[in-house]
Amino acid sequence: MNLVVVSNRVARANTNEPMTGGLAAALLPVVENSGAIWVGSSGRVRDGFQKEPLAEIEALGAGALAMLDLPAAHYGGYYEGFANSALWPALHSRSDLIRVTEGDYLSYREVNAFMARALLRFNKREAAFWVQDYHFLALGAELRELGVTAPVGFFLHTPWPAPCVIEGVPQHRELIEAMLGYDLIGFQTEADRDNFLGYVKTNLELAVHDDSVMSQYGRTRAAVFPIGIDAEKFSQQAAKATTHPDVLRLRRSLNGERLAIGVDRLDYSKGLVNRIRAFDRMWTANSHLARTVSLLQIATPSRGGIEAYCQLQNDVARLITDVNGRHGEVDWTPIRYLNKGFGQAVLAGLYRTAQVGVVTPLHDGMNLVAKEYVAAQNPSDPGVLVLSKFAGAANELDAALLVNPHDIDGMARALATALAMPLSERRMRHETMMERLRSHSIQQWFADFVEALRDSHSERTEASPRAAESPTLRPVRSLHSAARFH
Ligand code: G6P
Repeated sequence: MNLVVVSNRVARANTNEPMTGGLAAALLPVVENSGAIWVGSSGRVRDGFQKEPLAEIEALGAGALAMLDLPAAHYGGYYEGFANSALWPALHSRSDLIRVTEGDYLSYREVNAFMARALLRFNKREAAFWVQDYHFLALGAELRELGVTAPVGFFLHTPWPAPCVIEGVPQHRELIEAMLGYDLIGFQTEADRDNFLGYVKTNLELAVHDDSVMSQYGRTRAAVFPIGIDAEKFSQQAAKATTHPDVLRLRRSLNGERLAIGVDRLDYSKGLVNRIRAFDRMWTANSHLARTVSLLQIATPSRGGIEAYCQLQNDVARLITDVNGRHGEVDWTPIRYLNKGFGQAVLAGLYRTAQVGVVTPLHDGMNLVAKEYVAAQNPSDPGVLVLSKFAGAANELDAALLVNPHDIDGMARALATALAMPLSERRMRHETMMERLRSHSIQQWFADFVEALRDSHSERTEASPRAAESPTLRPVRSLHSAARFH
C-alpha cells in the first residue's frame, strides 16, 4: 500500500521548532517511519486558478512531505472562516460561537476540491489516502467525484458533538453526506462515533449495521481509534531534558517552591479561564499554598485573526493580572504566563519538573498533553495529573484525578489533593497510566487504522462492486456545484 496522509497543517523533519497543536507533532514521527507521503498546506497562498497545483516536495524519513500553496481567494473563508469559525466551535459544542457565511462554506468546499485535484498525482497503483481532521470533511467525496476508487479513510482529531449541535452548521446535511465518500471514519471515543452514527440514522435516515452505513458511495465504517504517544521515547526525552538550559533556569528559579504546569493552545475549548479561577480559589482557601506552589501556564497563540480568539487572549491576560495582583508578593508571582510555543524536547523537561499537570479542557478530542505529562514523570517520584473528564484522554487515564472543568470549587479541591498526595498513591496512579500508554502507542494507532482501512475498503468493494468501478453515483454537491467559482 502506498499511503498518502493528508492534513491542513504538516510538520517538517529534524526540527525542534515549536509545533502548533497535537496533530502535526503526533503524526511527524509515525509518518516519517512509515514511508508515507504527507500532503498539506505550505502556509502560503497563491493567486489565480491552478490547473496543476504546485507542490513543494522534500524528503521525510523514508517518505516525502508535499506542501501546497492554497488558493488565495479561498484561504480565509476556508481556514479562519468555515473550518475554525463554524466547524471548530460546533465540534466542541460551542454553538454560541458558530459564525458562518455561505461564502465561507463555498471557500471550504473549493479548498477541499483543490486538495482532491492535487492528490490525483499520487493516485497510482496500490495508493491509499488517509485524510486528517475537520479541515477536509468533504475530501473523500471530492476524490470519489474525480474517479478515485482507492481506499480513502478519515480520522477526526476533535470530538464529534450531539446531532442537535452539528445541526447548528447550516450545511450539516450536505457535509455529512459527503463524509460517506470515505471507506472508514475514525473517532477518538465511542461517544464521538455514537453521536455521528446517531446523526446518520436520524437525519439521513440511513440504516446502520455493525457501525457501517450504506450510501450512494457504498459502505462506510465508523470506528474508534484513540490516538496515543510514544511513551518510552517521551520518557527518555524528559529524563534527558533536565539538562536543557530552559529547564535548568526554571528549576533554579523555583527555590524549593512546587510547580503546577498547564500547556495549551490559546483556545476557548481548553478551559483556561476556569482553570485560573480554580487556582485563585485554591490559594484563597489554602493559605499555606500561597508562596509554596505556583502555576506555569504556557498558552501558545493560535488563530489570532478570529474574534473569539482575540477576546480569549484579552480575558485570560486580564484574569491572570488580577489573580497575580491579589495573591502575589514582592518576591512571588503565583502564575507565570507565557504566550509562546516550545519544542517537544524542552516541554518534556518542563513537564518532569512540575509536581502537578493541569489539563482541564471544557471539551477535547484526546489531549496529548495529558499523555505526555504522564510519560515525562520520574517513575520513582511522579507528579499528579489533574484531568478534565471531558477530554478524550479521560477514557484511558482514569487513574488521574478527574475533574469537572465547570466546577471551580471541585477543581480547587482536586489541586490541593494532588499537592498533598502521598508518594505511594502517586506511584500507583502513574504506573497504571503508563501501562495504558505503553500498550496503546501512536505506532499501534497508525498501524490499526491503516489495517482497518484496508479491510473496510475490501468489504466496501465486495458489498458494492459498483463503488469500485464508478464511484460517482450521484453528485452530493448540488448547492456547491451550482455556485462553484474558479
Ligand atoms: C487542533 C486540530 C489540528 C490543528 C491544531 C492547531 O489540534 O485538531 O488539526 O492543526 O489544533 O491548530 P491550527 O489552526 O494552528 O493548525
